Amino acid sequence: MSLNGFVLMKASLCVVSGGICIAQSLKIPHDHKPSDFDKIIHMLLDTRYARAVILFASDEDIRGILNASKRADQVGHFLWIGSDSWGAKNSPILELEEAAVGAVTILPKRATISGFDAYFTSRTLENNRRNVWFAEYWEENFNCKLMSSSKKDDSSRKCTGQ
Ligand SMILES: *[C@@H]1O[C@H](CO)[C@@H](O)[C@H](O)[C@H]1NC(C)=O
Repeated sequence: MSLNGFVLMKASLCVVSGGICIAQSLKIPHDHKPSDFDKIIHMLLDTRYARAVILFASDEDIRGILNASKRADQVGHFLWIGSDSWGAKNSPILELEEAAVGAVTILPKRATISGFDAYFTSRTLENNRRNVWFAEYWEENFNCKLMSSSKKDDSSRKCTGQ
């Protein structure tokens, strides 16, 4: 599994061991063409009885795969299992909904930490010096320039500190 996605795996149940087998592990090329997705779908079809496909991929790559499954007239053949990069997002399936029917995606449990918002919004340049990224965050968030070492160009307005 690579951190920046691009890995597809195809799993099938192993009758013998009762565990999960990976029938194939494929990589989506970095600078891909639609025909690369067609190739991937055809490779996945080589192990015809393995139908679950685990996708570690970007939105765009998920779209490429789903669309290629449509072009190959294989809608409904695969069971897509999406990583948290797919999660609850619509963007990977927009206009490709029918190709994604039945997909199972993973989303980490999220919760609001009580008090965090109050703590975070009370942070200032003065009281948050231990966070080395805070100045940069401040500049980005308030679209202003703090000091000469800043990455912002000179035309940016100066931060007022509040
Ligand atoms: C699916 O692929 C075709 C051919 O490459 C393309 O024309 C079409 O826009 C794609 N559809 C979506 C929804 O991305």
